[in-house]
Formats: sequence, C-alpha cells, structure tokens
Amino acid sequence: MQQRAIPKTYRIKSFGCQMNVYDGDRMAELLAEKGLTPAAEGEDAELIVLNTCHIREKAAEKVYSDIGRLVKHGGDKPPMIAVAGCVAQAEGEEIMARAPAVSMVVGPQAYHRLPALLEEAASGRRAADTDMPANAKFDALPRRRRSGPTAFLTVQEGCDKFCTYCVVPYTRGAEISRPFADLVLEAERLVEAGAHEITLLGQNVNAWSGEDDKGHAIGLDGLARALARLPDLHRIRYTTSHPNDMTDGLIAAHGEVEKLMPFLHLPVQAGNDRVLKAMNRSHTVESYLRLLERFRAVRPDLAISGDFIVGFPGESDAEFEDTLKLVDQVGYAQAFSFKYSPRPGTPAAAMDGQIGAEVMDERLQRLQAALNRDQMAFNQASKGRRCDVLVERRGKKPGQWLGKSPWLQSVFFEADVAIGDMVSVELMEAGPNSMRGQPVA
Ligand code: SAH
Ligand code: SF4
Ligand code: F3S
Repeated sequence: MQQRAIPKTYRIKSFGCQMNVYDGDRMAELLAEKGLTPAAEGEDAELIVLNTCHIREKAAEKVYSDIGRLVKHGGDKPPMIAVAGCVAQAEGEEIMARAPAVSMVVGPQAYHRLPALLEEAASGRRAADTDMPANAKFDALPRRRRSGPTAFLTVQEGCDKFCTYCVVPYTRGAEISRPFADLVLEAERLVEAGAHEITLLGQNVNAWSGEDDKGHAIGLDGLARALARLPDLHRIRYTTSHPNDMTDGLIAAHGEVEKLMPFLHLPVQAGNDRVLKAMNRSHTVESYLRLLERFRAVRPDLAISGDFIVGFPGESDAEFEDTLKLVDQVGYAQAFSFKYSPRPGTPAAAMDGQIGAEVMDERLQRLQAALNRDQMAFNQASKGRRCDVLVERRGKKPGQWLGKSPWLQSVFFEADVAIGDMVSVELMEAGPNSMRGQPVA
C-alpha cells in the first residue's frame, strides 16, 4: 500500500442493530478528535467506515460489493476504506486478503484504536485489530459532547446465550457489563449535551449487573432508578432483553419509575416449545407469556414488541401455526420478523430439515400480516389518549414535527415547537406506522 495523507473528511455507514449506531457515534467522536470532519451531504468523503452487521444472509457479499462500488466511484482518487462492525470481527482476515482496497479492519471491541490504525494506514501499512478486550474500549473513548434529544448508551455487550442460529456470541464476545459509575457519568454528559431520552443498549441488556455508589449489587432496574434521578433526563428505555434474564426488580420498576417508558422489546423468536428448545432459547411459550402477564399487571398500558424467526430448520407447518397463535395471544404493538438465515459456524446451519425458500416466504408473509394487523390495532386503540411527545425532527410538510409517544409510536403534529421540546398531544388518527397528534394545552 502507498503512503497517503491522513484523510480530512469521513463518512460512517452503520448497518444492523442499535449497538452499531452507538459504535458509529463513538467512532465519529474519535475521528473528530483526530481533526476529521464529516463529509457534507452529496460530497465524497476521504475516509469511509463501513460499520457492518453479520446477522443476515449475504452480509459479507454485501460488504465486498460496497467496497467495489466505492473504488469504482472514486476513480483515480479512491477513498480510504475501513471495515468495522461484526463482519470485520467474523471475517477480518478474509477481507484483508480478498479486498486490497481496504486499509483497515477493526472489530466492535477494538474501534477505540481507530486513530492509531489510521496513522498506520496513512504510512502505507494495512492495519487490522479484532481483539476483544471487554471494557478497555470504553475507557479509551473521548468524553461525550454532542447529542440529539434521544441518545443511545451501551451498558452491556456480548452474549453468552448461544442461540443455535445466532452469530452475535461469536462477533461480540462474552457478556460484560460496564461499571455503574462510568454509565452515570456518560449519561450525565449526554444530558448536558442535550439528550432528554436515553436508551440503554445491550445484546442482553437486562443481564446488566453492577455495584452502585454504596457498593450494593444492582441490576438494570437499579441503574434505571439511578438515571431517573438526573433532573433533565425525562425518558429511559432499554433494549434488547432476554426472557431468561428478566428480574422481579425490573418488572416492579415499570410500575414505579415514571421515567421508564411503557415499552418492552422482548424477543420470543417462535411460538412452539420444540422449536424454542432446538433454538436453545431456554424459555418456553408458557414462561414467556407469564412474564408478559406480570409486566402488564404493574403497567397495563405496556406496549410489547418482539422478534420472530420463521423457517428455523425442522419447523413444521403446525409448529409455525403455534407462532401465529402466540401472536394472537400477545397482541404486539410492533415487532420484527425474519426468515431464518443459516449463519456460517452456528449449530443451526448444520441441522437437518433446512426449509425451502417458498415455504419460508409464505410463512413470513402470514406472520407479517398478523403483526401488521396487531400494530394497527394497537394504534387504533391509542386514539384519544393524551401523552407527551418528544420532538425529534421536522416532518415532511411545512410546520409539521415528528416525535415519539411513550409507547414508541411515531407521532406527527403541527405546532410552534423546536427539536428537543416535550409536547403534550392528543392522539387523533391512527395509521399503520404512525399517529397524528393534536397539541393540547
Ligand atoms: N440479543 C437480541 C438480538 C439479537 S439479533 C436477542 O436475543 O433477541 C436481532 C434478531 O435477529 C434476533 O432477535 C433474531 O430474531 C434475528 N436473528 C438472529 N440471527 C438470525 C438468523 N440466523 N436468521 C434469522 N434471524 C436471525
Ligand atoms: Fe443471539 Fe440469542 Fe444472544 Fe440474542 S440471546 S444475541 S439471539 S445468541
Ligand atoms: Fe448485526 Fe452485530 Fe448488531 S451482527 S445485529 S451489528 S451485534
């Protein structure tokens, strides 16, 4: 590789989950410290960071075609390219070998070293770092100085659950919790920088554990209660939870901590116990439903969200029907649903009974029709509710603004407000993906 100047402008493209969004923000802060500025819209950046996700089919192929496109578009002045995120972690060496245009490969636990890798790349040496040193990354990141009205805060990383279909335990490593004091400090900084809502993030966020400032062992509920004491922080959310890590304390907190929003993302994946067992989910349909009942007992208006996989190897028609039954029983306010995708190196990829494309498509369509119906029903049932909306951005029409209800519905309305305001509205009209609100005094 040739020597070249340190790039002056950058663009980060984040794919996948919210943890990648958080990581993308942190990489931007690191690059800003190094003197780089974000490329203006429509302008070519001198450094492109592809912050990748490995969870779906053809994840790696997509990265290679993105790289090809960037090189072609750059002509005789191609950008410097860094591959970050979960594909970098899983296939770093292969990327280095297959894509000479890539200068840097950096895994999700190593991106605090991005500035050093940048120096190396500029001096003509291609650089890779896919170490997994748990908390070291966070200690090395700069102070938070900028935030919109809503912010992400990674509190827990990695996963020890090893669901048989999933790559995350391999790409993000073992479960770790960030220390309480670090999290309170980062939250304070985010609030000072303008955040009114913080979403606590983790692959298994409800597995977070730590010690409070008095040395008492606490869980995610304790962390939420501590953050709720920050006067200018108005809303707390968290995602993604695992049914097996749910605690009495977190359930109780939903009935007691007003700033904890009435929304729960609790993936179930399938509605049949044999399939759940083959997935190594370690919860049953019954234990999942019982959990939801307990949440609803303390917070009857709770909006419930989930993730689903259709066509797991060996899933029969009848077992798939069980998933539809579960959906009917729960009444999800929103949900994500996916066709099973064999991920290289996971146990399920080698299982018998892989399901054909046609069956997969048909199941996904039926499931999504049911989920869309329930989302619309949830929005319909919200009509007439009064609630606060945190203004996040301008809408499409002049004078229109967009924000979220406590139940994470997108709400648009017209009023004389600014981004970051909390506006009291009545929910007037329901669409499949949003609600129209009317400001009230
Ligand atoms: N830790 C979270 C999120 C994991 S990834 C959890 O346990 O739920 C987000 C979602 O992607 C998963 O909930 C699952 O529904 C889906 N997913 C993961 N691996 C998949 C695969 N191999 N095929 C299809 N969907 C998958
Ligand atoms: Fe993947 Fe399961 Fe861990 Fe979620 S709990 S990240 S689905 S292994
Ligand atoms: Fe994707 Fe990695 Fe997140 S595989 S979903 S970016 S943890």
